[in-house]
Amino acid sequence: TDQYAVFGNPINHSKSPQIHGWFAEQTQQDLSYLPILAPEDDFQSSAERFFAEGGLGANVTVPFKLDALVFADQLSPRARRAGAVNTLQKGKQGMIYGDNTDGVGLVRDLTNNLGLSLQGKRVLLVGAGGAARGVVEPLIKAGVGRLKIANRTPEKAQQLIKIFHGLQQDSELSAGNWRSLEGSQYDLVINATSASLSGDLPPLPQGIFAPGALAYDMMYAAEPTSFMRWAQQEGAEQVADGLGMLVEQAAEAFFLWREVRPATQPVLQRLRHQLT
Ligand code: ATR
Repeated sequence: TDQYAVFGNPINHSKSPQIHGWFAEQTQQDLSYLPILAPEDDFQSSAERFFAEGGLGANVTVPFKLDALVFADQLSPRARRAGAVNTLQKGKQGMIYGDNTDGVGLVRDLTNNLGLSLQGKRVLLVGAGGAARGVVEPLIKAGVGRLKIANRTPEKAQQLIKIFHGLQQDSELSAGNWRSLEGSQYDLVINATSASLSGDLPPLPQGIFAPGALAYDMMYAAEPTSFMRWAQQEGAEQVADGLGMLVEQAAEAFFLWREVRPATQPVLQRLRHQLT
């Protein structure tokens, strides 16, 4: 049986083993996928052991996405620009390849599951940490018209713009603090801050949602997050959490490993049902 795993700390609550188990069942792939708790200060030994003992691929979650970037022998361009690796794959001659499927996962959730067209849209990305950095490239590649990155520490948003400037294509990129958002409207507002984790809300100004706008929180929970509730009050037409992104990033990793694309809708439905 081919072996896969997810590394994290903590790892108990990870939904990845279940998601990949369902993908495998659905596509009739013979594989095992286990959660591995790596010590916070020693991802490397854990990962080395896993691959030495025959592991073929792994997902990497908090707090090891940077360790995985360093661990990989070879990186996809999108992982290098994202500055993080969430998917590892053992290649020929034991080379470890590092990729990042988070951003593609977000874009697939937006377009395929939520029915949004990103082409030419005005997008606000809230936050400039690792989670935000991981989704900038796929948003630009999806052809958004304008991408504004706003952050409590605006310098970090500026840095992100610099990293992705070369990719610019047709998207107009800008960065700023909360106040710089006053008076402008967006078709899509994505919360990529970790504020929801503590029930906090980034202090966004009122009136930022354009008619028909979607508010998307990269976090998910059984109940709507504080950002989702705020967005609804502010008149966002549609709100969504990040459960779909979780399933879609997993599907992209599964495809990389197995060259089979699982259907994500039934898995997302099962997961949602379980969560609530
Ligand atoms: P992650 O990998 O989840 O993105 P991170 O790299 O620590 O974690 O980044 C956390 C992000 O959430 C940052 O954009 C952070 O803002 P700062 O760069 O100013 O620190 C943002 N953040 C965290 N708590 C916040 C809060 N209470 N209000 C607003 N922004 C918050």
